[in-house]
This record gives sequence, C-alpha cells and structure tokens, in this order.
Amino acid sequence: MSRTVYVNGEYLPETEAKVSIFDRGFLFADGVYEVTSVLGGKLIDFAGHAKRLQRSLDELEMANPTTEDELLEIHRELVRLNGIDEGLIYLQITRGAADRDFAYPKDPVPTIVLFTQAKPELAAAPMAKTGLKVISIEDQRWGRRDIKTVQLLYPSMGKMMAKAAGADDAWMVEDGQVTEGTSNNAYIVKGNTIITRNLGTEILHGITRVAVLRMAREAQMSVEERPFTIDEAQGADEAFITSASSFVMPVVEIDGQAVGTGTPGRVTARLREIYLDEMRKAAV
Ligand code: PDD
Repeated sequence: MSRTVYVNGEYLPETEAKVSIFDRGFLFADGVYEVTSVLGGKLIDFAGHAKRLQRSLDELEMANPTTEDELLEIHRELVRLNGIDEGLIYLQITRGAADRDFAYPKDPVPTIVLFTQAKPELAAAPMAKTGLKVISIEDQRWGRRDIKTVQLLYPSMGKMMAKAAGADDAWMVEDGQVTEGTSNNAYIVKGNTIITRNLGTEILHGITRVAVLRMAREAQMSVEERPFTIDEAQGADEAFITSASSFVMPVVEIDGQAVGTGTPGRVTARLREIYLDEMRKAAV
C-alpha cells in the first residue's frame, strides 16, 4: 500500500516524504499532534481538533504554518487522494529543524506532516460489542498532559504492560486517582450519572469528551467531573473510554475484576449510538 501523504506544502508518495534528522520533533519530541476520525469520507469534529491544535501550539510558543481553512483543505484532499471512507488522519507539527540546542531556535520553520490510516471497521468495531479489559498503572508521564505533544513513550509502555497482563489497555493512576487511559479519557457510570476526571493539566482535554458529556446532559443523564479511584470504578455499574479513534468504547474489566455484569453496559451503548449518529450528521 502506498499512501499519499502531506509534508510541508507537498502531497507525496509516502516513500518520498522526508523530514530532517535535525528536526526537533525527532530530537526533543518538540512537536504536537492531532488525530481526527473520518466516517463516510467526512471529518468528525474537525473544528474541535483545530482549536485544540492551536492551544497546544500556543502553550509551546510554536508557530502554526497553516490557517484553519488550509488545514481543512489538506485533510479533505488526503481523504480524497487516499480514498478514505472510514479511518483516521494524523497531523503533526514540530518546531522544525535546527542545530541541537535545548533553547528554542530563533525564527524556526515548523514542520507539518499529515497522513491517513484506513480503518474500515472504525464505527463497527468488534470491541464495542465485547468491551475492553484494562489494568491500572502508575501515571509516570510529564505534568502538562493537557498539551497534546508527541512524547508518547510512557503511554506506549503502558499499552505493552496491558498486553503482557492479557488486557487491552491501561488506566493511569496518580495519587490514588485515575487520570485517563493511555490514549483515551476514562469514565464510570453509576445509575444515571456519568463520572469522569475534571479538566486540568493532569489529562488531555479530549475532543470526544466534550461532545459525549454534552450529549449525556442532553439525554437527561447527570455528569460529575471529578477524580475517582480504581476501587470506585470496579464497583461502578459501567465503565467506558472515549477518543477520536474509539469514539465511546465499553470497559468490562479492571485489574481482573468485572465491572457491573462484566459485559458492555446499556448507558455506554446508548452514548456510543448517540455520538455516532450525531457526529455523522455534523461531519464536514
Ligand atoms: N489520543 N487522552 C489521551 C492521553 C489521548 O492520547 C487521547 C487521544 C485522548 C482522547 O482525546 P480525543 O477525544 O480528542 O481523541 C485522551 C489519540 C486518539 C491518539 O493518540 O491516537
């Protein structure tokens, strides 16, 4: 499979796309990213991702090489060139190439890269029927998790720890409270109430999270944004995660203990359905 990717203003075959070995994304993880899903050839919540991208760039005093309109055009062109019906678009912006120095370079030229990943079963994911098993691990990431940087080594290690334990993913815990999943936000359900960690520098401000909490409120569910423990989660009626790549996905087991009935819950299934319905309609 040879994809067409986007690098610094050009659409190229993936084998011809190149970035400097001096790129600060490569040397310092000095870069930010976004992942936007595609359903029916259209972008889900593009505006939310573009807004968070700008916030991440601002927090790192990094220049944005594109306008939001240009970025939308690039996303759409990649969907078209690669014939994506369902899948993901990955976008990364780094501070660009400079001689190695811890201080930010003066007047850097940012690097921008986008590529697609076809995922024919994104909406009809089998995991939505079976649910995920998660383990808990200590959250050993840096303190600015609200900035979507490309420093993903610890989440990657967490995923491997989960696999080694026969699970699907890990929920990270700090000071006894769940922060989030390795690449998703974490939730529990008790009766008619959805509970998820409040926003702060401890977690990524998920774009899917914003939409799902709004939809939960509109569906007359109550929402509590507060920390919770693994104990509380194990005793909850349901648990789930959200992200651009999983939408709303049930969690059925935490550290070997079944959550609720040990099968995907009703509230989670309903939220997944509402989310997919509404977001397909609003896709651009
Ligand atoms: N991850 N928390 C973390 C640590 C994440 O990496 C992600 C997204 C989320 C959910 O954010 P959103 O709803 O905006 O996708 C929460 C993406 C999908 C990834 O790294 O592939």
